Amino acid sequence: MARANAVITGWGFYAPSRVMTNADLEKIVETSDQWITERTGIKERRIAAPDESTSTMATKAAERALAKAKLKPSDVELVIVGTASPDFVFPPVASLVQAALGATRAGAFDVGAACTSFVSSLAVASGMILGGAVRNALVIGAETLSRIVDWKDRGTCVLFGDGAGAVVLEASSASVGVQSTVLHGDGTKCDLLWVPGGGTKNPTGAEKLEARMHYIRMNGNEVYRSAVKAMAEAAEEAIAKANLTADDITLFVPHQANLRIIEGVAKRMRFPMERVFVNVQRYGNTSAASVPIALCEAVEAGRLKRGDKVLVAAFGAGFTWGASVLEWFGEHEGPRQKSPLDIASRAIEDLVDRVRPA
Ligand SMILES: CC(C)(COP(=O)(O)OP(=O)(O)OC[C@H]1O[C@@H](n2cnc3c(N)ncnc32)[C@H](O)[C@@H]1OP(=O)(O)O)[C@@H](O)C(=O)NCCC(=O)NCCS
Repeated sequence: MARANAVITGWGFYAPSRVMTNADLEKIVETSDQWITERTGIKERRIAAPDESTSTMATKAAERALAKAKLKPSDVELVIVGTASPDFVFPPVASLVQAALGATRAGAFDVGAACTSFVSSLAVASGMILGGAVRNALVIGAETLSRIVDWKDRGTCVLFGDGAGAVVLEASSASVGVQSTVLHGDGTKCDLLWVPGGGTKNPTGAEKLEARMHYIRMNGNEVYRSAVKAMAEAAEEAIAKANLTADDITLFVPHQANLRIIEGVAKRMRFPMERVFVNVQRYGNTSAASVPIALCEAVEAGRLKRGDKVLVAAFGAGFTWGASVLEWFGEHEGPRQKSPLDIASRAIEDLVDRVRPA
């Protein structure tokens, strides 16, 4: 099969059932629904249950994406999880997801680019598909930020939430699919949004815990200014790289950090808010999970159909940022074409089954 493009054929998300409203936060820190709503647009966020973690939520989102794509776990060739809140330092979350799904043939690794992790993962997966290394990939963004947020810091704890979103990316001869990708970074700004403790530089210890170094720290004003500029510039670059103009974009699905950032990006791009998808009011900033969750909800709301051009963009710690333009494919119809390798390995499996003593 000619590998003309990488197309999204499945999508799914999972959000924990526990809803934490701004009113709930008023009982934890000195804040108000009015302050949070005016500064961020956020009204509520989801919080993972004690028995949930990044990998369990990622697995649920992945199962839904695979079902939509009508693929079996054993068909999956690659699992990538974009995350800043992994279950463990290692193994990667992707390995835990691979095991939970039973994706026995898949390679697995995580991508760590904070809130940009899903857009970066999509770039890696589409590159591998276009290069012929794999025919499909599960690309997941998943976070349990409630476990690394400082619940005593009102400047950050009101912003974040938990969840996971996943897409299945497949090689296709269709003319639609990933049209352009841009990724950028500025590591000189790394201490404006970070978790200083718990890594090898400041290993976990009583002193570090006392200083609350294992929680998210942020300079909100600096991050705000940089996020608006960087996301708008990356989005414009991705549109130009796809040989399109902003008028060609059916829907813009930006990282859902904060309504003011999203509005600032749209204003800077002179892009109409009616064509921007926003769900930050219900989930807060779910970091790597925000773009895939928003993408899923946009499709469910009927805002994307085959051939539509969707722009995604994200910004996060590092600083890292990027954007991508995709021509929407939608659900796969009819049987998939099998590769000669697939046909041969299935024939060998059948032969082994037949000669194996009962
Ligand atoms: C965090 C953010 C909402 C703060 O908004 P802001 O308008 O910049 O507010 P400031 O930080 O200037 O703080 C203004 C006041 O509100 C206070 N404040 C901060 N958090 C508060 C809260 N949750 N409730 C009430 N008051 C709060 C501050 O202490 C400050 O009080 P002071 O003037 O007495 O010192 C904003 O900077 C922002 O959105 N930054 C980007 C954050 C983000 O999206 N990060 C992730 C990117 S991937």
